[in-house]
Amino acid sequence: MRERWHSRTAFIMAAIGSAVGLGNVWRFPYVAYQSGGGAFLIPYFIALFTAGIPMLILEMGLGQRMQRGAPGAFGAIRPKLELFGWWTVGLSAGIVIYYSTILAWSWVYLWHAVHSGWGDQAESFFINTILQRSSGPAELGTPLWYLVIGMALTWATVFLILRKGVRNVSKVVFITVPLPLILLVVLLIRGLTLPGALDGIRYYLTPDFKMLASPAIWLRAYGQIFFSLSLASGVMIGYGSYLGKRAEITNSALITGLANCGISFFAGFVVFSMLGYLARVQGVPVPEVTASGTGLAFVAFPIAISQLPALNSFFGIIFFVTLLTLGIDSAFALQEAFTTGVRDKWNQSPGKLAFVFVAIAFPISLIFITKGGFYWFDIIDKWICDFGLVAAGLGQCLIVGYLDRVQDFRVYLNEISEVKLGVWWIWALRYVTPAILTVILIVNLINEFKSSYQGYPRWATWIGGWGVLAIFLLLAVILYKISSHTDSIHNKEK
Ligand code: PFF
Repeated sequence: MRERWHSRTAFIMAAIGSAVGLGNVWRFPYVAYQSGGGAFLIPYFIALFTAGIPMLILEMGLGQRMQRGAPGAFGAIRPKLELFGWWTVGLSAGIVIYYSTILAWSWVYLWHAVHSGWGDQAESFFINTILQRSSGPAELGTPLWYLVIGMALTWATVFLILRKGVRNVSKVVFITVPLPLILLVVLLIRGLTLPGALDGIRYYLTPDFKMLASPAIWLRAYGQIFFSLSLASGVMIGYGSYLGKRAEITNSALITGLANCGISFFAGFVVFSMLGYLARVQGVPVPEVTASGTGLAFVAFPIAISQLPALNSFFGIIFFVTLLTLGIDSAFALQEAFTTGVRDKWNQSPGKLAFVFVAIAFPISLIFITKGGFYWFDIIDKWICDFGLVAAGLGQCLIVGYLDRVQDFRVYLNEISEVKLGVWWIWALRYVTPAILTVILIVNLINEFKSSYQGYPRWATWIGGWGVLAIFLLLAVILYKISSHTDSIHNKEK
């Protein structure tokens, strides 16, 4: 008997937990601010309804209909497509291996937050003290011991949560989803009561409608939706596969998509109120203190925290606990996407699979916490997200849009769901999303060939970028071959 979520709420919480991650806090506010402020909400919500939610319905629905993770689900459409499924869950395994780095940093920062260890030199603290960043990707060095502890804590947590499969996840997400939200509210209250907060928020939201004329803004909106909803990584297919046969899909997908985007929008207030305050304290305009990515979480925020008039350690701890609880449910969702695929095929216990996965992934992840590890982290992240996931998303839409009986799929979803899907869903999968993903892919490729990402040496992006994507392809081929072999043995036994 296949494992099941405790309840529909548990499933929706887990889906929201995987979608809501660091991207909501450190990517969305910045992208919005840079892309027309309040006006960005227009392309963003259009992207949500024309691509994000249709694909979320596709993924959750496919997992539920086939009762399999991505490899089995695509294999049920055409046996050879199992290979494609292995590739997508391979990407998710790849993501969790480098995503764990951010969690390792967060554990170490949590430790330093107790005494605001970064002092007034947050940038130097991050780069020189924590990362001890080397001069380039060629100079790797050995893993840094304190980050090894952070990394070990991360994998131990993931193992403990996944050891008992989705039944355990059903319980854990009732903590890891609401807790960071409550903590964000605490940070927001603190942020809004600081001088300069409103200047920050004005920067965040002042609409610049002229920006909407630029195609780049639209592509950015689709890219952000895609990343934010954890699409194309097999996560939502795997989670959907643990739903009962008659479980509701469409409304659950709508709730997940809207909650995720609402949380992103809300996180912008937290981030920009703090940045507004920081700009006021430093006597500079807000654009000078804005930052995205690691710069926001590990430099700008720590500075803002140490500038607070009181309770600095308290807010420091709250901030890093927020990051940890935001990230951990995205991490275990990614690992579960992969192990669900394996379990469908070889019927191993969740505990054993979680253990084997962590035993392999933990040593590999140590690469990212060496002195040169940051560069490799950056390159692999870029390639997996900008090329790997976009290509996987494109493949997924084309497969379901053209090779599966998509009309019947819609009828099926409408039978079991509270919200009925119109034919627009099919158009979204067949035309709108593939067209946009193709353009994104081409633009990303052109940009990369014009100039190397971040000016990294080409050999590094060949190894860390294309090389890593090729390794996943190879891994997919191997798993596919073994799986076909297992099937043929079973057939002979019958
Ligand atoms: N959706 C997560 C975020 O916004 O932080 C990141 C992510 C998780 C992306 C899982 C992709 C993925 F497969």
